[in-house]
Amino acid sequence: MNLDWNTLGFQFRPAKSNIRFHYKDGAWDDGQLYNTYDITMSVAANCLHYGQAIFEGGKAFRGRDGKVRIFRPEANGTRLNSSARQLLMPEFPVDRFVEAVKTVVRDNQEYIPPFESGGSLYIRPVMFGVTPQIGVNASLEYWLVIMVVPVGNYYKNGIKPVDAMISKDYDRAAPHGTGHIKAAGNYAASLISSKQAKDHHCPIALFLDPGSHTFVDEFGTSNFLAITKDGKYITPKSDSILPSITNNSLQAIARDLGMEVEYRKIAATELPELAEVAACGTAVVLTPVGRIFDGDKIYDYHQTEIGPVMKKLYDGLIGVQRGELPDKHGFITEL
Ligand SMILES: Cc1ncc(COP(=O)(O)O)c(C=O)c1O
Repeated sequence: MNLDWNTLGFQFRPAKSNIRFHYKDGAWDDGQLYNTYDITMSVAANCLHYGQAIFEGGKAFRGRDGKVRIFRPEANGTRLNSSARQLLMPEFPVDRFVEAVKTVVRDNQEYIPPFESGGSLYIRPVMFGVTPQIGVNASLEYWLVIMVVPVGNYYKNGIKPVDAMISKDYDRAAPHGTGHIKAAGNYAASLISSKQAKDHHCPIALFLDPGSHTFVDEFGTSNFLAITKDGKYITPKSDSILPSITNNSLQAIARDLGMEVEYRKIAATELPELAEVAACGTAVVLTPVGRIFDGDKIYDYHQTEIGPVMKKLYDGLIGVQRGELPDKHGFITEL
């Protein structure tokens, strides 16, 4: 494959194929690989007007041994179904989802970056309702498409901390809303906060709980985690944040390292007291946060590099993903 693996970055580029399943008359079809990224639908399709659209994000890695390892595809399938239930969309059986991921990864093997590049194959499932309608009702017809995109090593120039800004004017989700599922609309809602943060030279926006604005929720596309001064891993408990598969995996690794993990409400007033802060998610695994801007206050974690505990967690997780460390928790599905 004629790609410059070392300059891939994280952006869409076509691969060989995507796999598509069509839901009609109450059932999913057997699915098929397509060599196009185009799809035909009515301009009256439900997803365009009323937002029945959900997605997922996962990754496959090529190991030093040449084997292809897919990271926790069953967790993506399970979360897709939890998103589907909330938006009255049809569930897709998790075992079929995992098989479909394997099929599309296998068909696009030549797009999986080599081990040495540090890149991976990003897996992007998306489900949307396509029934033409003007009344606000659940769609009767849906597509589930799983596409793959080769992506580069986000940290090829080293892991550098980024600044975050607390979103004061807008929430990404509502209390008892859709913040805990991967609904496309959540991301549209978070764009304005991300823009405000970027306008203040902060690459990421941090959201507080939408009910009281006193507890930490998460970043626009990643969970919040921190290390306390007494060495505990803490991460927010809230019903308006996405249950991150990366966060859940890092917690297992933290426990393996003998750390205490606290999954609890984190008051915004605790922010100045933390030792290390990071954002975590599939795309980056873990990004250290150097400073948090909170109105006219700045919490500075005095990091020019990734902190020592975050570094251990990061190495522990990418080690398993890349097949360099034992898979103690059954995170890997080999192709
Ligand atoms: C809002 C939000 N939170 C957290 C995450 C991290 O989740 P995961 O680790 O499953 O990628 C993501 C990215 O998927 C996200 O969009």
